[in-house]
Amino acid sequence: MSAELDELKDLTRALRRRASMSDASDWTSGRGAKAADAAAPESAPKTAPAKPARNAAPIAAARSGSLDELATKIQACRACELGKYRLQAVPGVGARDAKVMMIGEGPGFQEDHTGEPFVGRSGQLLDKILESIGLSRKTNVYIANIVKCHPMKNPSDPESHGNDRPPTPEEMDECRGWLEAQIRAIKPKVLVTLGASPAKALLRDQTPITKLRGQWRTFDPGGGLGPIKLLPTFHPAALLRNPELKKDVWEDMKSLRQELSK
Ligand code: URA
Repeated sequence: MSAELDELKDLTRALRRRASMSDASDWTSGRGAKAADAAAPESAPKTAPAKPARNAAPIAAARSGSLDELATKIQACRACELGKYRLQAVPGVGARDAKVMMIGEGPGFQEDHTGEPFVGRSGQLLDKILESIGLSRKTNVYIANIVKCHPMKNPSDPESHGNDRPPTPEEMDECRGWLEAQIRAIKPKVLVTLGASPAKALLRDQTPITKLRGQWRTFDPGGGLGPIKLLPTFHPAALLRNPELKKDVWEDMKSLRQELSK
């Protein structure tokens, strides 16, 4: 057994003792290997806040409809540079009457190839995290991303691994209308953003994710729905790189569970 594994097992035991983590015992005992399937949430380019997309009104009108209609439209969308190079758009997956919507940063290699969000190692960890508080993408959660197409370092090579990057503020602004329409269709009780990119984009707040996480905020998706509670937390890929962050995410999940019980 490797020294790394021993060290992580010790850490997990310590965390369990510290935070009474019995119901999170599965995902908190992760191996902590480097994430291979996700871009780095903390390394999004620090550019000025993005300007609204051109022709915003007609785009907003087109970005409406039922969840199924939206998925069809998203799959056909080639409106921005990301759409020109991706293999498949990734609308989202989960319960259409979800209480919780989890919002990641964007599809990676595996998502581009399968059309489903969070199918790699960070997706498996996300499923365990959800399970630890009685949630699942099959029954009561919808999982989507702030951008629907794979942001690539080298867009001409969607078949290469290690080609993922975080979406830029401009790309998130171009695409956010789809997410807002999905939120309006689902009407979840709570939104949870995963990592820095979606939190900063939706909240229009450049505060580091280390400070934003765990702080309840609100987000209004428009259409008269009104503000919805939003909880930023770390991206599962960050937990795979740094298992120390699991204790913070567990605190956030307990806070989410409490909010849902109200
Ligand atoms: N897969 C996704 O769908 N989104 C992410 O943010 C990371 C991996």
